[in-house]
Amino acid sequence: MKKYGFIGYGNMGKMIVENILNLKIFYPNEMIISNRTLSKLNKLKKDYPDITITDDNTYLAKNCDKIFIFVETPEFKDLIFQISPFLTDDSHIVHVCAGLSFENINSFYKGSVSQVIPSIVSTFNNYHNESININNNEDVDNIHNIDNNSDIGSNDTFNCFKNACNNKLGISLILHSNNTSNTDKCLIEEIFNEFSYIQIIDDFELSNDENNDRAVEIATILTSCAPAFISLIIDNLVSIANLKSKNKINVDEAKYIVVKTFLSTFIQIDTDNLCTSDIIDKTSTKKGITEIGLNYLDKNSNELINDLFDLLLERYDEVKSELNKNYS
Ligand SMILES: NC(=O)c1ccc[n+]([C@@H]2O[C@H](COP(=O)([O-])OP(=O)(O)OC[C@H]3O[C@@H](n4cnc5c(N)ncnc54)[C@H](OP(=O)(O)O)[C@@H]3O)[C@@H](O)[C@H]2O)c1
Repeated sequence: MKKYGFIGYGNMGKMIVENILNLKIFYPNEMIISNRTLSKLNKLKKDYPDITITDDNTYLAKNCDKIFIFVETPEFKDLIFQISPFLTDDSHIVHVCAGLSFENINSFYKGSVSQVIPSIVSTFNNYHNESININNNEDVDNIHNIDNNSDIGSNDTFNCFKNACNNKLGISLILHSNNTSNTDKCLIEEIFNEFSYIQIIDDFELSNDENNDRAVEIATILTSCAPAFISLIIDNLVSIANLKSKNKINVDEAKYIVVKTFLSTFIQIDTDNLCTSDIIDKTSTKKGITEIGLNYLDKNSNELINDLFDLLLERYDEVKSELNKNYS
């Protein structure tokens, strides 16, 4: 029986493989994991002795029809050349390589391909797993139910958030090539739907509209890059709060305050308990401190965010033109 193959065990590969194992989506004995540096897989093999590990991608390709590729984008081309002689009509390639288009791949591999743009915030480790039962279909309501519990511990904000999110974290964008079968599409969507919200960009290939590319790039910035941007904003808030308070609010306290406030704001917005305009209205009084801050941020952040998008989209164009040259 063919197994499920996973090539590349870095940030993305490790996260997705661990999610699949933690959530028991596949049995370990159904999975082959390959990484260039084999020693990186030792711990995985120790934790899951039934899993097959290798640094031989051709062995994996001979034994797997459904192959997930998590290598860095520049490595993809050599890898697909290496494994394509072993791929069959039943093969399906799923890759996460940013910037790589179906056209790029189609110039030398004609089989069915899906692209998933995952987000590091979909990490679903054992700690999360302990506090939920994924097979439990009980509809856990939102923050209101949990608020009834007077005994709120330090993990409860996180649990509220998880419950509000139906035990899913992050967004995975999914694109399928035209020749992908419905069965293959469903499999990929179901896997990522177990641990993240999925957004399927299904009419992507129907037209050669450049705006479609742009929409995918902008969605990628919002889902895949944004966790890093949000983390940087938190770090800056924390260090400036620490500095301005002359260390009266230490870094750990500042981080606790900032993260709990962000998380609680997101829960309110996500559950529709309060919308963004409600929060703005209810927080600001005329000429009060918040209103002054809002006016300042509104004026300056629009320009900053606009420039940020321009900068990133410019970089996308450079990457695409390098890839187009390399794949022509
Ligand atoms: N990080 C993110 O948040 C994110 C989000 C969305 C998409 N992506 C995309 O995901 C892809 C991977 O990113 P990453 O951050 O996970 O990279 P990474 O941490 O550098 O991991 C890449 C892994 O692939 C392995 N590898 C490279 N070539 C190989 C080959 N020929 N055979 C077997 N294994 C090979 C590397 O092995 P070694 O151990 O030998 O280095 C490494 O473990 C990129 O294309 C990126 O665009 C990343």
